[in-house]
Amino acid sequence: MSLIDSIKELKEENDAVIVAHNYQIGEIQDIADFVGDSFGLAKKVAELDVTNVIFCGVEFMVESAVILNPHKNIIHPELKAGCPMAEMVDTDDLLQYKQKHPNTAVVSYVNTKAETKAESDICCTSSNAVKVVESVSNSRVLFVPDKNLGNYITRFVKDKEVDIWDGFCGTHDKITPDDVQELVDRYPDAEIVVHPECKPEVVDMADHTESTAGILRRAHESDKDHMIIGTEKEMGHRLKKEVSDKEYHFPGNPTCQNMKKITLEKVLKSLENLEPVLTVDEEIARRARKPLERMVQIGRGSE
Ligand code: 13P
Ligand code: SF4
Repeated sequence: MSLIDSIKELKEENDAVIVAHNYQIGEIQDIADFVGDSFGLAKKVAELDVTNVIFCGVEFMVESAVILNPHKNIIHPELKAGCPMAEMVDTDDLLQYKQKHPNTAVVSYVNTKAETKAESDICCTSSNAVKVVESVSNSRVLFVPDKNLGNYITRFVKDKEVDIWDGFCGTHDKITPDDVQELVDRYPDAEIVVHPECKPEVVDMADHTESTAGILRRAHESDKDHMIIGTEKEMGHRLKKEVSDKEYHFPGNPTCQNMKKITLEKVLKSLENLEPVLTVDEEIARRARKPLERMVQIGRGSE
């Protein structure tokens, strides 16, 4: 039996659902029951009426699902698939900041460790960051950890002072204006859509700045034949699959190595053993649940 048939059979037998992020390798996206952005995956797992969920994504996404769904068995096929940006917040540094600024609300991007979320007032994803910061009643906000997304928020939120942590995503931050310009020179009519984790100079060049789900939405809506997409290059798999009559060009061809650590073999093994199950310290999970639930309640920016 082929690897894919074995995965399908075991999935049925174990009453399991496979969910995958938009940056997962194409084969994983193709066998998944649901593919989405961080916000979509967090919502989807909560809605699923199954016990076993195979989550193909990086640690912070899986951790969030575990925290929001304490009674589900959330299996991460590769526990070593982390997000370097999530490691850029040291909990002691954050506690010190909070002590110094007791009236500042802490808004954390979901791309953080559970410990960071436990110290936060509310979480956000790239799809609702502006809406979340606008929803906070404090006049001062600390945004952790992505300085690029933090800067993007300040383009819209003018009535609050926003302190921004010094973190970044190495995959997006390395996309340069020159990388974009090179493609603009080749495809002058192309629509440019970038992820808000890109540098401000790259965001300045874009027609739209969107989460990965928003990038897909733009592909459906756009009447252009070419699109310049400022995000992880595996996004091209989903774009090509769903909107096949366009050409997609990725400035700098950025790759997130952690997203590539999950393979079909590892998914099969997870289904055979129903592990490894990702666990979160109970007390940390209890404190991190509230900011995550607030984020889900707020909904997407466009909702
Ligand atoms: P999205 O929530 O837009 O899918 O982004 C997740 C991510 O890790 C981007 O680097
Ligand atoms: Fe983290 Fe960047 Fe990879 Fe997203 S693309 S998971 S932010 S390292």
